[in-house]
Amino acid sequence: MHARLPRNFVLEERLERYADAIELMPERWAGRWATACWPLAFGAGGAAGAAGAGDRFREVRLDLGCGKGAFVVESARREPDVLFVAMDAEPLCIAYTAQHVTEAGLRNVVVVPGRGSAVARAFGPDELACIHLNFPTPYPRKKDADKRLVLLDRLIEYRGVLTPGGTVRLRTDSQPLRDFALTQFELAGYDVAWSSDNERADRPDEPTSEYEDRLVAQGARVYGVWATPGAHEPQATQTASLSLTDYFPDDLFSDGYIPHGMGGAVINLRNRRVHVWGGQVG
Ligand SMILES: C[S@@+](CC[C@H](N)C(=O)[O-])C[C@H]1O[C@@H](n2cnc3c(N)ncnc32)[C@H](O)[C@@H]1O
Repeated sequence: MHARLPRNFVLEERLERYADAIELMPERWAGRWATACWPLAFGAGGAAGAAGAGDRFREVRLDLGCGKGAFVVESARREPDVLFVAMDAEPLCIAYTAQHVTEAGLRNVVVVPGRGSAVARAFGPDELACIHLNFPTPYPRKKDADKRLVLLDRLIEYRGVLTPGGTVRLRTDSQPLRDFALTQFELAGYDVAWSSDNERADRPDEPTSEYEDRLVAQGARVYGVWATPGAHEPQATQTASLSLTDYFPDDLFSDGYIPHGMGGAVINLRNRRVHVWGGQVG
């Protein structure tokens, strides 16, 4: 996430200032997040006490690739009896999310620096009721496919930590990434429980994320897929095409909106077509 830094922003200082909201060793809570984090010690009020009686959170959800945290902060505010873990690979995003969580006084969010590949170590079996993937970075090139959060290998790992009936919830402005994800869900033995080509219209009350707000303002449509591990065993072998250009529509986004992170690939393909067709005509 290439956020513009405010003046006088010192990353290390921010990370230190909001360190109480950040967990650097998530593995030590694997299998016991719901009880071990109840009630969280930090927070200046806000949702404090709102979770009610009990000795554990009702469930645990992961916001993977949380960005600056708008989605997780609003989700946590609405459901104080659910523990949210917000994970991102970018230290800057960790600093912003921890700041927003602290300033909101939330006691049901833990912010964790980490990549998608860390999920299997950070959580135990049957621990996560939901993994939110909001506008994950698409990495359109085949050689970067292993960084995608919806890759077969990752989905197989998520199966190991989801509760029975738990869901992976993908939201994206990218039809190619959505279509690629559908191939991966199928290979990983997930059933699609719900999908939409216009999630904002179908679920208007869902909390939104920073990217969602920004991209929708630019004309994006939000594709949504909820998938849950099914009875089928995952396939060990990748059989889908890994280049997202193979999932582009024939008209190369002639309606004007090019999904986030795909501008370069679209321009290359358009130029190649002009070149090839130009050659044939000439
Ligand atoms: C396009 S932004 C979306 C942020 C936020 N979910 C939103 O909707 O506003 C993608 C985020 O995923 C993070 N990210 C990319 N690859 C990741 C990975 N492999 N593991 C964890 N986070 C990742 C980036 O640092 C970035 O914050």
